[in-house]
This record gives sequence, C-alpha cells and structure tokens, in this order.
Amino acid sequence: MTYQTLLFDVRDGVAFVTINRPDKLNALNDQVVEELADAAERIATEPPVKGAILTGAGTKAFVAGADIGDLAKQGPFDGKARALRGQAVLRRLETCGKPVIAAINGYALGGGCELAMACHLRIASETAKFGQPEVKLGIAPGYGGTQRLPRLVGKGVALQLILSGEMIDAREAHRIGLVNAVVAPAQLLAEAERTLRGILAMGPLAVRLALEAVDRGLDMTLDDGLLLEANHFGLLAATRDMKEGLAAFLEKRPPRFEGR
Ligand code: COA
Repeated sequence: MTYQTLLFDVRDGVAFVTINRPDKLNALNDQVVEELADAAERIATEPPVKGAILTGAGTKAFVAGADIGDLAKQGPFDGKARALRGQAVLRRLETCGKPVIAAINGYALGGGCELAMACHLRIASETAKFGQPEVKLGIAPGYGGTQRLPRLVGKGVALQLILSGEMIDAREAHRIGLVNAVVAPAQLLAEAERTLRGILAMGPLAVRLALEAVDRGLDMTLDDGLLLEANHFGLLAATRDMKEGLAAFLEKRPPRFEGR
C-alpha cells in the first residue's frame, strides 16, 4: 500500500510511523485509519521490524482526534462501524507482539489520546496536551478511551477527564500516570528511540510474552493471570535466549539474544 497520510520509515529495526496531515492537526480521517491498519499489520508481521515509534507531523499536534468532518456525516450504523474499525486498528497495534512507543509532540485529543494509550509506552514533549473532549461534541470516546483511560489512570481520574472534556498538560499527564516521561520538544524523538532501542536490546521473546501477560492478565482473575505468567515463565525456559541471558550474567558479559 502506498501511504498518502502516513510516513513509514524503517531504520535499523525500528519503524518510525508519522501521521502526516499537519494542516488538519493529523486528525484521523478514514484514510488515516485504513493506512494505520496496514502499518500495524506491517509492524506485527515484517521480521525486520522489531518495534515502532508513532508520532505526528509538525510541531502542533500528535493527533487532534478523529476527523470531525467524517463524524458529522455518520448515522448510527456507520458510526458503530467506524468505532469498531478504529478499535480494531488500535488493538492490532497493542497486540502486535513488539514494543510500540508513542512520541507525543503536541495535541493528543480524542482519538489521538486513544491512539497513544494503545501504545505500550508514552513519551510526551513538554508542549503536549491531552484530553478526551468528545462529550463537548455530543459524542463519547469511541476508539477505546472509556476502557483504556480508566485502566491507565483509575476510574475517578478517567471520569474526570471524560466528563469534563478538559485538556491537561504534559506534566499533569505524567503526574496521573497517563505518560511515562516528559522531555523537551527537541529531545522527543531521540528519547523515544533511546527507550525503544533499550527494550530491543533485551530478549525479544521475553519482551513479547511480558507484553502479552500484562495485556491479557488485566482481564483475568488474579489466579488465572498468575497461571498465565507461570506458563510464560516456563515457556521461556525452553528458549536459547533464556540460557544465553543467564549464562551472560554468570560469565559477566553482555548477552547476545537471537529471538529463539
Ligand atoms: N477533525 C478535523 N479537523 C480538525 C480536527 C479534527 N479533530 N482538529 C483540528 N482540525 C483542523 C481545523 O478544522 C483546522 O482546519 P482549517 O484550517 O481547514 O480550518 C486545522 O485543523 C487547524 O486547527 P485549528 O482549530 O485552527 O487550530 P487551533 O490551534 O486554533 O486549535 C485545537 C487547536 C486542537 C484546540 C482545535 O483544533 C480543536 O479543538 N480540535 C478538535 C479537537 C477534538 O475535539 N477532538 C476530538 C474529536 S472526536
């Protein structure tokens, strides 16, 4: 697929995905969502891609939400279909099995905040702003905001954001646990890449199973989640990577993981 609204650039194992509609503050119209679906599939399935960084073009916005022009035309059934489609794309990213980091360079509103929340880690520029302003438009979050926001920050704070529709700045987003780190705008991409490359230096099978256990475990009873964790722990004991990681520690040398 040739992208019209995304830049997709793989450098040394990292897919840099830039949502590229800066004149519309990178709002997610149907074409962006379709192209993001393709990008998520590529991240999940292309062996040379080991992880991804998502960001927005320009200095003003990560993503300022779903495209309000598209939403204005929808009826109940295509509205539901649009929500399901967007949710599926974000879920594909979240369960792609490789680490995905959002580098949030400006407004992350509505679908933009939801896209960032589907990534595994969020690093924000000091200039970033976050919010779920949907109720101000007479709609409610539709790309997972009502589900992922309370899981990340707790029900009370999530409801405060969703019911007020108000924006918060990067420091407040950090304080409530919505983002993992806040950095100067000029450092944003370098810090996201440094963080991702740090993760990519770990055992990739261990990273994959840790992502899966946290993702699945949140919807399980504690006992079922603990069993899943124990199964992963045992499964990793069958990998060359585990033997290499433990041997490297004992031999006081850096590990050489192969993902096997
Ligand atoms: N959908 C479609 N277009 C959008 C958009 C969105 N979610 N957000 C911004 N744009 C467009 C604007 O319409 C404008 O287009 P134009 O130049 O053709 O008129 C352009 O992006 C620039 O936005 P503008 O509003 O002029 O910038 P601003 O700096 O004055 O305000 C925001 C920035 C983010 C506060 C404002 O754009 C905004 O409130 N956007 C909507 C946020 C939202 O409600 N998102 C959730 C949608 S469900």
